[in-house]
Amino acid sequence: MEVIINIAVLASGSGTNLQALLDSPDLGADISLVVSDRVDAAALSRADAGRIPTRVIPWSDYDTRADFTKAILGEIEDLGLGAVVLAGFMRVLSGEMIGAFRNRILNIHPSLLPAFPGANAVQHALDQGVKVTGVTVHFVDEEVDHGPIIAQRAVPVLPDDDVGSLHARIQVEEHDLYPRVVRAFARGEIHVEGRKVRWD
Ligand code: GRF
Repeated sequence: MEVIINIAVLASGSGTNLQALLDSPDLGADISLVVSDRVDAAALSRADAGRIPTRVIPWSDYDTRADFTKAILGEIEDLGLGAVVLAGFMRVLSGEMIGAFRNRILNIHPSLLPAFPGANAVQHALDQGVKVTGVTVHFVDEEVDHGPIIAQRAVPVLPDDDVGSLHARIQVEEHDLYPRVVRAFARGEIHVEGRKVRWD
């Protein structure tokens, strides 16, 4: 695999998107570190299995978001990272980190933003009776699930869907899309102009 940039992956949960990145044969990126705010995150076991170093930074150890984020920055500052990839990371980062990695922090969200930002996006889509939802990969800015949109995939909502079935179909798209975006970013093919993102 040709390695162009180093990345850190931040994950709080099951880590299936991390797994998709680990399994990608030509990501163009070396995962230098996996950071989690939860000691029980299955993502950590996936990182261990892939021989990727891990750090746990428990949210409850810090009084403020700024201090929590500073601890993350302390872990990653010497890694020479080209990007930070959020993969189911359930904490909001402080402005210090967003400024330090402007347009270099990527996030994946299970809706077609700007619809249904925040937690429980799949449930909210079902509650609103939308016929199409999907997945968005975007750069992280100071507002939650708001930064410039890099890529989206639509997923139809079926009449009998529940959160589990709909999220499962969204995740199929996530696992294909996120490695493609990271690969394009690593190769310098993604350019941001204000809120607009252009792929070469
Ligand atoms: C994904 O659906 C992602 O869009 C959202 O959190 C979920 C993480 O799933 N931000 P996993 O931990 O990668 O399996």
